[in-house]
Amino acid sequence: MKRESLSTLDPQVDFLPLNGTDHIEFFVGNAKQSAYYYQMAWGYELIAYAGPETGVRDKASYVLKQGKIVLILTTAMESDSEIAEHVKLHGDGVKYLSLWVDDATKSYEETIKRGAKSFMEPTRFEDENGYVIISAIHTYGETIHKFVERSNYNGPFLPGYETPSHKIETTPVGLKHIDHCVGNVELGRMNEWVKFYEDVLGFKLLLTFDDEDISTEYSALMSKVVSNGNGYVKFPINEPADGKKKSQIEEYLDFYKGAGVQHIAVATDNILHTIGELRKRGIEFLYVPDTYYDDLLERVGEIKEDLEELKKYNILVDRDDEGYLLQIFTKPVEDRPTLFFEIIQRRGAQSFGKGNFKALFESIEREQERRGNL
Ligand code: FE2
Repeated sequence: MKRESLSTLDPQVDFLPLNGTDHIEFFVGNAKQSAYYYQMAWGYELIAYAGPETGVRDKASYVLKQGKIVLILTTAMESDSEIAEHVKLHGDGVKYLSLWVDDATKSYEETIKRGAKSFMEPTRFEDENGYVIISAIHTYGETIHKFVERSNYNGPFLPGYETPSHKIETTPVGLKHIDHCVGNVELGRMNEWVKFYEDVLGFKLLLTFDDEDISTEYSALMSKVVSNGNGYVKFPINEPADGKKKSQIEEYLDFYKGAGVQHIAVATDNILHTIGELRKRGIEFLYVPDTYYDDLLERVGEIKEDLEELKKYNILVDRDDEGYLLQIFTKPVEDRPTLFFEIIQRRGAQSFGKGNFKALFESIEREQERRGNL
């Protein structure tokens, strides 16, 4: 998988120029079956595989791609591996939020110099298709940022991965790229992690939501959004806030056993088509009551989409100064109430759907209630 550099920024100005998200790797209990779900339900294509058949003894990894989005599902072959330990503690979840860079050595040195905790020094991996350099640093919880330099590599994914011998025919649903990835951190630690992204990775604080913005009758949370220089990588960070009942962030922390990735927002340019397909294939979404649509057009003004269709698929709309956005959230995609996906279509708006927070959180609370966790 060869990618041309997209970085438009002068490296003198931005000490950590990022081309975007390279891939997101999950540690899961059964990668073979998870891969089937992401292929059949979500329409990802299996582009590479590593495992016993390719000479990898201790794990199996399935690399899935749709648009520019690359997900890896990795499982342990042995019970004493760090992958098995991770799954035992957290359930299925994101281990590596990997960033695509032109220089993984410099990315490592610049972030380590500014206080990052090392996970892996710059390391060269090669095969007959070329070489890559990968380095990695810790972020919240047990989550890791890898820096992937791949301009000298032409293989199916990374060295060690091969084109799969067996492939299911899949139909994409129109997912294009990662829009943002949200982390949940422990009570009182949001600002610490915002400072980490500012100081260590050179990100800028884009937006702040306090409990006034994001509270329902029962629970609350606080959130700050950090973005890298060119805006290709955005990481909102949430922490729980005091409310009458348990917040959704606390529920996540209780079941994930600590901080971790809460949701991955994937972009589409035709949300009606994408959600129509995903619903047909059995993906479950959060539900907002029909009354949400009663005064929708008064709130957001003129939109291109048909109101009845939006209502049928339960898609939410919000407007900011630059335009509007359409969004919808899945229910958690594991049995533990942890990670979920957001599907988002931006029509100008660069924000995150603040106008929908209340309706959404009430919807999440209805689900928490059903799980006995409110
Ligand atoms: Fe989001």
